[in-house]
Formats: sequence, structure tokens, C-alpha cells
Amino acid sequence: MQRDTKIIAVSGKGGVGKTTLSAAVVRTLTECYPEARILAIDADPAIGLSTALGVEVRRTLDDIRKSIVNKTEAGETKQAIELLNEARFRIFDTMVENQSFAFIAIGRPETAGCYCAINTYLKEVISMLAGDFDYVVIDGEAGIEQINRRVMEKVTHLLLISDQSRKGIQVVKTVKQVSDELVMADRVGLIINRVTNPELCGSIAVDGVEDVTFIASDPEQAENDILGKSVFELAEDSAVLKGIRLALEKMEIIQCDCET
Ligand SMILES: Nc1ncnc2c1ncn2[C@@H]1O[C@H](COP(=O)(O)OP(=O)(O)OP(=O)(O)O)[C@@H](O)[C@H]1O
Ligand SMILES: [Mg+2]
Repeated sequence: MQRDTKIIAVSGKGGVGKTTLSAAVVRTLTECYPEARILAIDADPAIGLSTALGVEVRRTLDDIRKSIVNKTEAGETKQAIELLNEARFRIFDTMVENQSFAFIAIGRPETAGCYCAINTYLKEVISMLAGDFDYVVIDGEAGIEQINRRVMEKVTHLLLISDQSRKGIQVVKTVKQVSDELVMADRVGLIINRVTNPELCGSIAVDGVEDVTFIASDPEQAENDILGKSVFELAEDSAVLKGIRLALEKMEIIQCDCET
């Protein structure tokens, strides 16, 4: 097992399959590296990764942030370092841990409009926790906001997801451009998901991204969706899982011989 943490973030337009594929990345890592410490983070306030992974969320990062802020406002003057340690302790407390991976969700701030505070907090949490895990998988919010706000700064492997639409590709092109400045990623990969027309999709390209993987529209995933099943219930040879294994191999996140 390599010592350096791989921080994998998924980004792209709304509805293109970010959550599904993040969950598939988590499953693949648990199968390839059963001994590895894996953390899945739902960084989308709209929430969804827990369902895709089949875990239940009780408390979120936003709950912890609020309780710490309230405490400080109530006059408990603690040193910053103490607060951070307390946050760390509570985050570990909040994590849903099953045998193969840990999970936290950013949560949905009650105050409408701005997610700045929670995004800043998330950025700190990623830095703080990364060292405790071998792999961190982040299901990002749709669009470029979290890239712009440098929440994804420490990401080592950026996985751009698009569907076959021009609009989807345009969004990943923008994410790529912005991330060149604001994300220190070693590798950037692209997945074109839910493909129904492979011939027309063959020419899709994003400047500076060499690792491109196509994943077909997957009837098994559609069935899972209707039944509310997690990715752990997909068959090994489903298009989604086969596609994710290929994408992770191309980005050298997994080695080909670890396929189950
Ligand atoms: N390869 C695929 N084949 C069939 N259906 C898929 C595939 N990938 C994802 N889906 C389905 O597409 C829908 C959107 O997927 P998902 O929720 O993962 O997208 P998202 O990018 O996370 O969306 P949002 O931006 O709303 O968070 C879901 O119903 C999911 O089951
Ligand atoms: Mg999602």
C-alpha cells in the first residue's frame, strides 16, 4: 500500500452521474484494496451519495460546524487548536463506518443562499482528515463553485464526468480550465457517461485530458435506481463497474491485476 493519500474528486454538470460513479469508485477501491482506509465524502448539499452507497447518515459536517460555532458564540473561548481538535473528534464520531469504508456528508445548511461557510469548513476537513486515510473520494456539487472556492485544492485525482451532450462537455471544459489554476491534481481523467451513441461520441475531447473512458447507458443501473439499490448491488460486469475500473486503471489509481 502506498503511503501518500489519493484524494479523488468527481466534478461535472448536474445529473450526469457524479454520485453514481463516486459510489462505484468507492466500491471498486474496497474490492481492490480491502485493507485500505477509504473515506467517502458527500460534498453535495443536495445529498445522495449515502443512498448510492447504502449507508445511513445521522449527523453531518454542517451539524458539527454549527454546534462548535454556537459554543464559541455562547462565550466558551477556546484556543483555535482546541476547537480544531474537538472538531476532529466529533467528525470521527459522526463518521458512518462499515467494514470497508468510512463516510461523512457535508449536509445542508438551513440558511438559504450561501454555502460559503460550510465549503470553507469542508476544505479544512479534507486537509485535516486526508492523512488518516489511503483514499478519499469526494462527490462534488454540480458546476464549478467548489473548484472556484478552492475546496478541491488538495485533490490529487480529478475525475471529470459528462454525459454525451454539448452542454455537459462545456461544463467539464470549464472545470478543467479553472482547475488548472486552483487544483493541484496530479491526474485528470474524463468519463463520458450514459452513452447511447458511441460512434458520435468517439470524437469528444477535452484539451489536456488524455485519460478518457466511455460508459454506456446501463440498464442495470437504471433498474437499481428504480428499486433504490446501492452500487454494491450491481453485478461485477455491469457497464458502470467495468467502466469505473477502466477509468481508475487509466488514471493509475488502481493496478489492473487487482480486478476481482
Ligand atoms: N451509466 C448509467 N446508466 C444508466 N443510468 C445512469 C448511469 N449513470 C447514472 N445513471 C442515473 O442517472 C441519474 C443521475 O445520476 P446521479 O445522481 O449519479 O448524477 P449526479 O451528477 O450526481 O446528479 P446531481 O448533479 O443531481 O447530483 C440517476 O438516476 C442514476 O441512476
Ligand atoms: Mg449527485
